[in-house]
Amino acid sequence: MDQLKTIAVIGSTGSVGEQALDVIQSMPEKFKAIALAAGSNNQRLEEQIKQFQPKVICLANGLPTTTNIEKSMYQPLEEIVVRDDVDVVLAASSGLDGLPAILAALQAGKKVAVANKEALVVGGPVVRQALESGIRYGAELRPVDSDHCGFWQCLWGESIDAVDQLILTASGGAFRNLSITELDNVTPIEALKHPTWQMGPKVTIDSATLFNKGLEALEARWLFDLPLEKIDILQHRESVIHSMVTFIDGSVKAQLGVPDMRLPIQIALSYPDRLPIQPAPKLDLAKYESLNFAKVESAKFPALEITLEAGRREDTTAAALSGADEAAVAHFLNRQCRFTDIAKLLHKAMQQHKPQKNPDLEALLIAEKWGRNFVTEMLKNGERI
Ligand SMILES: NC(=O)c1ccc[n+]([C@@H]2O[C@H](COP(=O)([O-])OP(=O)(O)OC[C@H]3O[C@@H](n4cnc5c(N)ncnc54)[C@H](OP(=O)(O)O)[C@@H]3O)[C@@H](O)[C@H]2O)c1
Repeated sequence: MDQLKTIAVIGSTGSVGEQALDVIQSMPEKFKAIALAAGSNNQRLEEQIKQFQPKVICLANGLPTTTNIEKSMYQPLEEIVVRDDVDVVLAASSGLDGLPAILAALQAGKKVAVANKEALVVGGPVVRQALESGIRYGAELRPVDSDHCGFWQCLWGESIDAVDQLILTASGGAFRNLSITELDNVTPIEALKHPTWQMGPKVTIDSATLFNKGLEALEARWLFDLPLEKIDILQHRESVIHSMVTFIDGSVKAQLGVPDMRLPIQIALSYPDRLPIQPAPKLDLAKYESLNFAKVESAKFPALEITLEAGRREDTTAAALSGADEAAVAHFLNRQCRFTDIAKLLHKAMQQHKPQKNPDLEALLIAEKWGRNFVTEMLKNGERI
């Protein structure tokens, strides 16, 4: 890779965004952060501006009243991602705010590295449409989530028609060793301790309920355009194998590595080239006496099956559940509901949602908002969960 790649980092102040900036900083001759976007953390954004000297920035939740940032640097997100001087857009904001920018970037033929799970889960159908309309201009959808980056690497040089199954692995989250009854009383602090990955709070709680694995299955469905029936989930405590692909001839390819988000981020930025990473996250397999695999205990993690069922419907239900989970997790973190209530709230939301088939972006966003409000109202009114 001889040419300098210019990157727009959307969500630069978040967990993925900061790690992306580490990668960019480690290879100034390969990458340049040309645009940075955050939600409201102008303090951290200011520090990043000093360090990375981007051309443009976006603070999505409005201009701060006191700031040292030059006003002329601000540009709306949807304009930033289609700029001629942006080679790769790293979509690493949380929630759905970044979805319109992802669509605009794909339609304009940009290479979009997507970490933003919710955008794919809720907006899957419209993201694929945008990709198809932008392919002739060079559009690409590149996975950043480690499991999906694993699938992607296993699929390099393969035909998608030769795929029998994609197998996601699940560490089991913070509570993999607890019994169902013990789960009732776990606290947000305990739930935020993920056994292998350091991540933002929402995705860490989603890992503890395994809602996250359901989201990842849906994400894989839209990233690789494969039916959900071809995606399976296996519990694998050590998180050494990130994902596997089985092919129609019985061959299995697996992607292994130490849990380090810098690696999938870097691959998504440097593709098709591989570059060294500093310090190198070396996997020492001899340190592992064994690698363990098991079926997921669905009774212990009901959020997983609920999410998969929502995905199989291929209507607005997954969007409604994404909104419902957003609200349920926020309430759990504020100690306004129990950990086990999250799955119950999701189940109620799925029962009550009036789905729409073949949804457009507007219908998906309305469903997501409905899910969020449904949970908030239920908890506000003290309804029985
Ligand atoms: N963390 C991981 O290891 C990991 C792994 C795989 C996938 N993911 C997915 O990647 C996404 C980001 O995760 P995260 O853990 O990095 O989340 P996070 O730490 O909560 O960071 C979210 C980032 O998005 C920014 N943001 C919020 N609203 C925005 C908007 N309207 N426009 C632009 N930026 C906005 C935030 O800015 P402020 O700081 O100003 O609020 C922050 O920079 C999520 O969808 C998550 O599911 C994360």
